[in-house]
Amino acid sequence: MPTPVSQSGLWKIQQDYYQKLGVAAWEDRTPFHLTNSQVFTDAYAELILAYWQDHPPDPKRVFYLLELGSGIGRFACQLVRDLTRKLAYFERLKELPFCLVLSDIVPDNLEFWRQHPKLQELGPRVDFCVMEPGREDILFLEKSGTRLDTGGQALLVLANYVFDSMPHDEFRVTPKGLEECLIELQPELGEIEQVEVRRSYAEVSDRYPPHLEGVLDHYARNVREGAFTVPVGALDCLKRLRGLAPLAVLASDRGFTVPDRMTVYPIHPHTIHQGGCFSHMVNFHALSLGFRTALMTRREVLDGVQTVFLGDFDCGPQLRYTFEECFARANALNNCSETYAPYRNKVQLRSLLGFLRLNLCDPNGLAAVARQIPAYLQNYSYGERLELLQILEETWANDYFFRGAPNVTFWLAHIYDSLRIFDRALWFYEETARRQGRDAMLLVFQAQCLQNMRQLSQARQRYLQALDLVPGMAEASQGLNSLDK
Ligand SMILES: C[S@@+](CC[C@H](N)C(=O)[O-])C[C@H]1O[C@@H](n2cnc3c(N)ncnc32)[C@H](O)[C@@H]1O
Repeated sequence: MPTPVSQSGLWKIQQDYYQKLGVAAWEDRTPFHLTNSQVFTDAYAELILAYWQDHPPDPKRVFYLLELGSGIGRFACQLVRDLTRKLAYFERLKELPFCLVLSDIVPDNLEFWRQHPKLQELGPRVDFCVMEPGREDILFLEKSGTRLDTGGQALLVLANYVFDSMPHDEFRVTPKGLEECLIELQPELGEIEQVEVRRSYAEVSDRYPPHLEGVLDHYARNVREGAFTVPVGALDCLKRLRGLAPLAVLASDRGFTVPDRMTVYPIHPHTIHQGGCFSHMVNFHALSLGFRTALMTRREVLDGVQTVFLGDFDCGPQLRYTFEECFARANALNNCSETYAPYRNKVQLRSLLGFLRLNLCDPNGLAAVARQIPAYLQNYSYGERLELLQILEETWANDYFFRGAPNVTFWLAHIYDSLRIFDRALWFYEETARRQGRDAMLLVFQAQCLQNMRQLSQARQRYLQALDLVPGMAEASQGLNSLDK
């Protein structure tokens, strides 16, 4: 029987996967490298520190951080160590008693954390709690034997790769109006690889509670065409947690932070990962609607993660600065993991983009990998194309010419040429000629761009100029001949 996506059996399949496997889910099955990397927790620690500098916590009270879906617990362990080390630099914060509560829906994971020597070393800096979906406001802390009470301070919620496991609904706007996606699973339970999802669409029912209706209304009013999701599970979870304390939320997941990037897709199916778990893109934009502060990355590639810092507080300068300047520009949290690829012989366009971003679009960085880029332009995604274009223009903005500077204009021309953006390529070939003088090969490249732009008389002129410089030059003669065909 077709049901709204959030009420389908998909989410139970996901929960059963984690419940059945316990920590064995991380034996080559569940993705974890990115969110458990040293670079990841270091970036989070910087952001949390910035938030604390803007909004200093009471040094006499324990400040609670609650991690949802802690899995194996490595992220939590590293984050506590990173925070402890960094706090020591700040007079006002160095004695801050904080406690990171690891939580999960899987009781077996708690057993693993309890026994883990690295977590034991952290003493009162960590506590553990079993999370029951739908009852997130009743948090019993296993180690201290009490209910979580922030004492009026904010609760900092950490959520990595977990909002994508919570139910969402899907809608689409067509010329007929707003419709709700219904799905039917065949068979209804089992391994996700064996389950077929059948989609149909129906008029929107009026079952939504008021806090979700606002979100649905927002999209119904603003989306002209395309599909969008409403993360009902994550919204419910945050609503309950907000019953405990004002929230700050730091989360990373594959997801959308800009509605237009979501609504270009006609449907939003799940992606199955090797090993049997699956994930959905998280609509972070929808989550952000209920917060006063919303800092969000704007990555174009779909399979990298987006990071958001949302809060029931006014954003201070330290957090905004740290998020935008120190974190989002290089986005080391994503891009460091891309740089593993060459050492695993798995270079893709994304690995090169990661390298360039990590180097803040430095012209020398482009010169180092530019020769390789065209080879990866046979098969790449729309998001990768957008990222590449941003990187090329940012690198150009960083250009500083002197004799001996990297030949940025030539590499930009070469890459734009390979992207078949001929007017921009032509401009960069001309700029290269202005910098290094007339050159027959550059004239041929310009002629080829002009030919592709159907500006044939100008193309002829460039081929002839090349032949003037190098009589009999094969590329120029062949170009001229091709014009006459
Ligand atoms: C993909 S893993 C991510 C684990 C960890 N955060 C990381 O980045 O490695 C998802 C985790 O969320 C837990 N989980 C699934 N649904 C949940 C829910 N509704 N509330 C809390 N945790 C949930 C799973 O048991 C699992 O440990």
